[in-house]
Amino acid sequence: MQGIVLAGGAGTRLHPVTLPISKQLLPVYDKPMIYYPLSVLMLAGVRDILLISTPRDLPLFHRLLGDGGHLGLNLSYTAQHEPRGLADAFLIGADHIGDDTAALVLGDNIFHGPNFSELLERTATDVHGCVLFGYPVGDPERYGVAITDQWGRLTDIEEKPTHPRSNRAVTGLYFYDNDVVEIARGIRPSARGELEITDVNRVYLERGDARLIDLGRGFAWLDTGTHDSLLQAGQYLQTLEHRQGVRIACLEEIALRMGFIDAAACHALGERLGATAYGRYVMAIAAEHGYRDVRPAG
Ligand code: DAU
Repeated sequence: MQGIVLAGGAGTRLHPVTLPISKQLLPVYDKPMIYYPLSVLMLAGVRDILLISTPRDLPLFHRLLGDGGHLGLNLSYTAQHEPRGLADAFLIGADHIGDDTAALVLGDNIFHGPNFSELLERTATDVHGCVLFGYPVGDPERYGVAITDQWGRLTDIEEKPTHPRSNRAVTGLYFYDNDVVEIARGIRPSARGELEITDVNRVYLERGDARLIDLGRGFAWLDTGTHDSLLQAGQYLQTLEHRQGVRIACLEEIALRMGFIDAAACHALGERLGATAYGRYVMAIAAEHGYRDVRPAG
């Protein structure tokens, strides 16, 4: 499976914060926002990842993540010159996807919940058609909205309906079979001038090939779209991390747990972060996984 993180857009709703920098590079508590969606792809076992952003911001993402080799990833970068819509990711990423399946995650989506890693790994290994993830929200008119029948099967999807027929938002994580590139090539811009992911998903739905997995109420899908929600997301993650003594979306830890890097490499990454709590955490995880510092003291 090939991964794509879409991290472009103008971020206008967060001005003036996003006037000089991409929204997806802003901190959410102790790490840049992009770490959270990237961790989702890693937990799904995806190692070949294309990051799409604006020509202005790509160099910053590259400075942060490089070629991904230190995390056992193969990261590549492509510019999206205009925000032409989410489905544009499949036109830009067609060569990257090749003849494989694809996972798209939006660079501003934060997921956290019980057994999410298992769900991701299981889902990623067996993708037919498209797999969407639904989440109950109080303001569905802001999202793609999924309508299901009494058995929970997907019957319709609408983009930002004025009168939503359900409270089930379609989150910004999507798994597709290889047809997605052809389907994306066939859709036309919507009334707001964008290639809508919802139109791609509707093609799968009409083919009887779209599945919705409900993330349910025990799960957190956090909003980062406004100044208030961004701060609240950070506070939520801070509360959880302090309470549990773990870090959410710590890429170094995930790379180690997924077997992408070994404990010595993980320790070196922690050390590189200097005397920060984050760095010490990464080194502690490495030690938990058998790393022993055998260098002479001095
Ligand atoms: O977050 C989930 C929602 O994402 C879905 O429920 C909707 O169906 C889907 O259309 C999308 O809605 P948004 O209104 O949140 O999309 P937005 O235009 O804000 O773009 C989402 C992210 O993708 C944002 O961080 C900017 C980035 N983006 C957006 C566009 C249109 C790009 O990188 N390139 C683009 O062309």
